[in-house]
Order: sequence, then C-alpha cells, then structure tokens
Amino acid sequence: QKMCNSAPECHENMKSRKNLSLEMINFVSTAITMKGTLSENTVRYCVFIIFLYVFHTECYNNLVSSYFLQESEPQLSQAEKQKQSIQEVRRSLPIFPYREDLLAAIREHQILVIEGETGSGKTTQIPQYLLEDGYTEGGMKIGCTQPRRVAAMSVAARVAQEMSVKLGNEVGYSIRFEDCTSERTILKYMTDGMLLREFLTEPDLASYSVIIIDEAHERTLHTDILFGLIKDIARFRPDLKVLVASATLDTERFSCFFDDAPVFRIPGRRFPVDIYYTKAPEADYLEACVVSVLQIHVTQPAGDVLVFLTGQEEIEACCELLQERCRRLGSKISELLVLPIYANLPSDMQAKIFNPTPPGARKVVVATNIAETSLTIDGIIYVIDPGFCKQKSYNARTGMESLIVTPCSRASANQRAGRAGRVAAGKCFRLYTAWAFKHEMEETTVPEIQRTNLGNVVLLLKSLGINDLIHFDFMDPPPHETLVLALEQLYALGALNHLGELTKLKWNFCYLLITDYPLSDVVTCSEEILTIAAMLSVNNSIFYRPKDKVVHADNARMNFVVPGGDHIVLLNVYTQWVESGYSTQWCFENFIQFRSMKRARDVRDQLEGLMDRIEVELCSCNGESVPIRKAVTAGYFYNTARLSKGGYKTVKHQQTVYVHPNSSLFEEQPRWMIYHELVFTTKEFMRQVWSRPSLCSSF
Ligand code: CDP
Ligand code: MG
Repeated sequence: QKMCNSAPECHENMKSRKNLSLEMINFVSTAITMKGTLSENTVRYCVFIIFLYVFHTECYNNLVSSYFLQESEPQLSQAEKQKQSIQEVRRSLPIFPYREDLLAAIREHQILVIEGETGSGKTTQIPQYLLEDGYTEGGMKIGCTQPRRVAAMSVAARVAQEMSVKLGNEVGYSIRFEDCTSERTILKYMTDGMLLREFLTEPDLASYSVIIIDEAHERTLHTDILFGLIKDIARFRPDLKVLVASATLDTERFSCFFDDAPVFRIPGRRFPVDIYYTKAPEADYLEACVVSVLQIHVTQPAGDVLVFLTGQEEIEACCELLQERCRRLGSKISELLVLPIYANLPSDMQAKIFNPTPPGARKVVVATNIAETSLTIDGIIYVIDPGFCKQKSYNARTGMESLIVTPCSRASANQRAGRAGRVAAGKCFRLYTAWAFKHEMEETTVPEIQRTNLGNVVLLLKSLGINDLIHFDFMDPPPHETLVLALEQLYALGALNHLGELTKLKWNFCYLLITDYPLSDVVTCSEEILTIAAMLSVNNSIFYRPKDKVVHADNARMNFVVPGGDHIVLLNVYTQWVESGYSTQWCFENFIQFRSMKRARDVRDQLEGLMDRIEVELCSCNGESVPIRKAVTAGYFYNTARLSKGGYKTVKHQQTVYVHPNSSLFEEQPRWMIYHELVFTTKEFMRQVWSRPSLCSSF
C-alpha cells in the first residue's frame, strides 16, 4: 500500500485501485461462466485472483478510512484541544477568580503571605500570573522554592505543559545534582536548599524579581534559614517581591515574622469529610491499611484512595500486599490500580499518579507525606491515615541524628483528611483512636531547625559573612547546644578558627558543595572521593534484594566486599561498573540497581564540574585504600566508636551503638570504627562504617 502525501494524490491512488478491482471482478466472473471447460490450473489461478481481490478490497478500505480519518481529525486539532482543556482547568482553579486582586496586592506590598488550601493553584498558577504581569521583563527570573525534590520536578513539568514549552527552557527546575534550567529559564522551581546555595554566588539574588517561598508551613531547615536571609535582603532590595505561600496553617506567624506583612487568603472549595476512627489501636498498621483499602474497594462507591505511609520500604510492601490480594481475588473485584509515590521513585513512575483513572477501575495512591500538601492528586475521595510519619530528630548532647517513625501531628492529620474533600464529599479513615488523636498527638510538628544537626548550615551562614549566629533572625531559634556543637565540630575540622571565623575559603566551598571531607586530605585521592560522595548520595538503594532471590543477592553483594570498610566497597562497585562499560546487564547480574548507579554517575559528573569550577585539580590514588580511608577519617573523626561488650561505644558521648547488618564489617567487628551516620531504626545503628587505618595520622 502506497502512502499518500496529499488528498489529491490519495484520490488518484484510490481511483486507480478501484479500476483495477473492477477489472478483476470482470475477469473472475468471465472465468466462472466458462466453468467446466477450465483446466485445474486455471481454477487455481481463479482462486488466487479472488484472494487478490479480497486483499485488495481490504487495502482499499484501509485507504479510504485513513483518508477520512485524516480529514476529520487532523493532528493539530488534537493538540489544540488539549491546550484548550488545560486552559479551562487553569480557569477552574480556586485561585483564578482572585488573579487580579492578588496581582494588585503584590504590586502594593513588597512582602505578602499567601494562604490557600492545597490544590487551589498557588504553586502552579502564581508564577504564571506574575510572568503574565511582566515580572520577568528585562530578563529577570521568578524563583519558587519547594521543600521536596519530587514536588519541584513535578510542578515544573506541569507548568511547562500548561505553558506549552519544553521543560528546561522557559520553565525549569533545579534540585541537588540535577539542574534542568538554561539561559532562557525565567520560571525556576527549586528546592529550598538550592536557593540557599545560590546565595553563595549571588548574595542579593539580583537576577530575581520575585522569590516565592512555597510550602512555608513545612518549616524545613532550609526554608527557615531562607526566611532570615530573604527578610534581610528585602530591606536593601525594595524592587524584590517576596511571597510566602502556605497551606492553611500558621500564616499569622509568618506575617508576624515579616514585620506584619499582609495575608492574602484564597478561599478554598472544600467538601465535607467524614472522619472515622478505630475503636482500639491497630497492632499492625500496614496490614490494617491493606484491609481498609480492599474494604473500601468492595463496599464504597467510585472514588480514588490515598494511603499515607512513612517511607519507601513500607510503601513497596503495602503495594505488593495489595497486588497479591487482588490477584487472589481475581475477577471477583473490579480493577484496582496500585501506585506508589515517594522521593526516590523514578520520575516516569511518579507521573503515573496524575493519570486519570480509567472508567470502572479505582486508583490507590500509596504515598509518603509528600501528598499531604506538596502534591495534589485529583479524584481522591477516600483517605487512609495510620497517623505516622518518619521524622528526623537530633540529640545535641550525643550528636546522634535519628530517623524515627513517630505519630504525626494533629495539624498533619487534618491536612491528610482534607485531601479527601477536594472534588466531592469524602471519607477519612484514621487507623487510630479518637482518644489518641486528642491526647497522643502533638498540636503541630516541631520545626526541623530544632531537631537537626546544624553543621552545614552554620558553615553556609559563615560563608555568607554572618558571623553572629546567636543573633541571626530565626523564626524559631535552634537549641543553644545544637549551635554550640556545630561550631565545635567545625572548629575541630579546622573550618573555623578559635574566634569562630572561617579559615580557608576554597576548602569550605569544597566542603559545602562537594564532599564532606577536608580538601587537604582529599588532594591525593580526589577522584576516588568524588566517586564515594556520589555513591553515598544514592547509597541506600544500590544493592537490590528481591524477596525470592535473597541468597543470590546476598552472595552477589559479598563478592564486592574488599577490606577497608563500606566506602571502599562502594568504590569497588562503581569501579567495576565503569569497567563493564556502564552496563545494564552487569547491574542485573550483580543485583545492583542500574537506576541508582546511573544517578551516581550523574552526581559524579556534576561534582567533577564543580571541582573544575573552583579549580581543584583531580587526582587518583589508583584505588589504594589507605589515602582514601585517611581522608574519610579526617572528615569524620568525631564519629569514632570503640568495641565494647557486643556493641560499640561512641568516643565522644559513650553512647552504645551497633554495626548495621548490611555493613561489610558486620562480621569482622574491628576494635575501632568510624561511621558516616548514626541512624535509629530498630536499634542505634552505625551506617557506612570503616575501621581506622593504622597509618592514619590525623586520627
Ligand atoms: O500549590 P497548590 O497546592 O495550591 O496547588 P497546585 O500544586 O498549583 O495545583 C493546582 C492544580 O494543578 C491541581 O488541581 C493539581 O491537580 C494540578 N496539578 C497537576 O495536575 N499535576 C501536577 N504535577 C501538579 C498540579
Ligand atoms: Mg503547592
């Protein structure tokens, strides 16, 4: 079948085929009238001709239908339609009727607090309104911060789609180790940590006309520091507009902090949400979630379900359980689409949660608290809330940072419930008792600044010339001892002198941006340290351990073990992968996650670029372990622990800690250990450990 390039050509083609077909019909009918006088071969020939005819008619029909299809639905109108519907959706958002008032308020005030329900359009619309109102004239940028990487990426993608531009051109995002922006970018979504870093290169943020600190209610460490810095620069940059956007929480406090800045409220459209509690506490909330989802699926009218869990492992387990039970129930139930969402999920999988649910099916999104306010998924009617979240906590006395599953706050629980009432009246199933809600949950979440290690932040503020940290304008100041401990550690590392001033700038820059290891110790093995830093950035997802192949996976993992500790093992994995030509097959055979390795490679490339920018030459020790262990030890000497009665005791605080079972030194148990981080999961574990190299001078 010949392809036609134009309608007239297509017509011609059809006409000639039609003539040909008519000729065939004539031929066959003549043949049939001559029946009886024909030889066997002639009959065969006739059958062949009939076959040809049928085949030809088929082609002819195809040709006609493709021609008409082309005629009635040209491709262009499809795109046009999509564009139209996107514009309709934009106009239907709760923020739209307030567009003019909002722009007027922004014109009038330098700092404005904006409060609106999740999903009202703050994050996706306000930057576009500002752009339409001329705030990017003269090449100025509009910056919008997000506490979460996933939100920054997904929102930027959505806005690029709404504006019909390619992501990374006019609309882009920047998250650590991934810069999807260009010279042309005027709307820039970024994590709050990335904007903080921009202060290092542009202390007055001169290229921005507007900064939106979004999701302010999350009160992440970086957002809190941004509050202080931006309030300060707003004083000497009267042309800079500052918008503090938040869900309906705490807005009076923001206003108060920003010298009584006015609050612009976007009235939400919220439908009532019925809340159900359990009568008794749930022993196993994961199982309870699975059962609740299936119950909803079987007994409740149409509507999607959102389940809040605390992290990747739990989410994966829940999804597996759900899929398995659905398989067992087979055709007894209608289709249930189970979709996970968490920070490390690849972005194509993340995008799936926004796809509309096919008719007759039900979607279940199993999420971390990323879906609490940062992401809005349309169509959710049912929320299942076990009442937990994973939270960082920091003990300044022992220097131990732990990630613990704790009950979430009442404010969080209410935000979660609110997700059920965005499109229609909804239901929220709380897997805890009404008593627990009242008496066991905190009113609000403690800001991160009060429960984290401040080392990097102190260094960053000092690099910006802010020496007096005690009097820095914190919205909620960190505990005094946390600040003191951070200063002490930086002094011990040689980053600060005895007056608390910065020592070597390049060193600090390197420390802040690139690795956690002192430059002087890295010089002989910077190539290797970059690899290790890159691998550590994806560390918890390198080894793949499927449930049905645990033994094989563990054997494969053991094959990578080399003496010297977990960092050297990570380096070994990366080096072998490079030798395999970055092979996917190699990863598959060795139970290594290709995706994580690819990410490590990206991170490494970026780190290399940064090193180049600050003119630090790279140097390799050819994989020899002593210089590497020396550099790592110099960076982490304060994380030393000594073997003591089955466990270890940290040198500084005599805290009992244990080697993580995943560690290459789990069996060996050397007398001295240094750890990368301490985490509290089921016990106080040291993660990424290495033993003290005997030649280490800085120890
Ligand atoms: O920031 P806020 O919570 O006020 O709302 P938003 O994130 O701007 O979302 C506004 C609308 O855009 C919602 O209806 C979302 O469903 C939609 N949206 C989307 O479809 N895909 C995204 N990646 C982000 C938002
Ligand atoms: Mg938002």
